[in-house]
Amino acid sequence: MAAPRPPRFDAAAAGVAAAADAAADWAALAAAARPCVACPELAASRTHVVVGDVPAVGRPRLALVGEAPGAQEDLTGRPFVGRSGALLDQLLAEAGLDRAEAAVLNVVKCRPPGNRTPKTPEVARCSGWLRRQLELLDPPVVVALGLSAARWFLGPRTVLADVRGQPHEIGGRAVWATYHPSAAIRFGPAGAPRAGLLADLIAVAESLR
Ligand code: URA
Repeated sequence: MAAPRPPRFDAAAAGVAAAADAAADWAALAAAARPCVACPELAASRTHVVVGDVPAVGRPRLALVGEAPGAQEDLTGRPFVGRSGALLDQLLAEAGLDRAEAAVLNVVKCRPPGNRTPKTPEVARCSGWLRRQLELLDPPVVVALGLSAARWFLGPRTVLADVRGQPHEIGGRAVWATYHPSAAIRFGPAGAPRAGLLADLIAVAESLR
């Protein structure tokens, strides 16, 4: 998996990676991640570490990976439950995908203040959690929602327009990168991001048939 590496040794990132590797299952990983203080600014301002949602039973058919929790996610402790989540749920249903069969994860598990983009060291420190989540859940298909998630999987110079619309084989998984629902909201119902996101989710659904 092409997770970004910290540019130089980062003890906090190494600590997260070790704690994540020691987690034998989802429950152990969640228990280890909830008290995480690897990023002091995020730890001080968050309400919840948003570990992610997983299907009640069995291996998820796909993992949806966003950037980081927003305000509603921070308050509730669950991923994609605010406006972006409502649109994501609607487009998943239109594409014939069932959120209940998916893992819903984020690159960064704590809300960045004011919903700013996570900083490179924050992504690097949080990477151990996501990498281990993918190992434990082993979804055959991953949908990276937005540029932060696309770059986590496909590398730091990734341009969304260049990579979307087709699967990329990474670590034995089919990784699709597409627009973030927040871009679809920003550009409106007739905008290109909403149409592109829906088209990509339909292609993902077809690949799972
Ligand atoms: N945006 C994200 O990237 N993730 C969430 O969980 C919510 C909004």
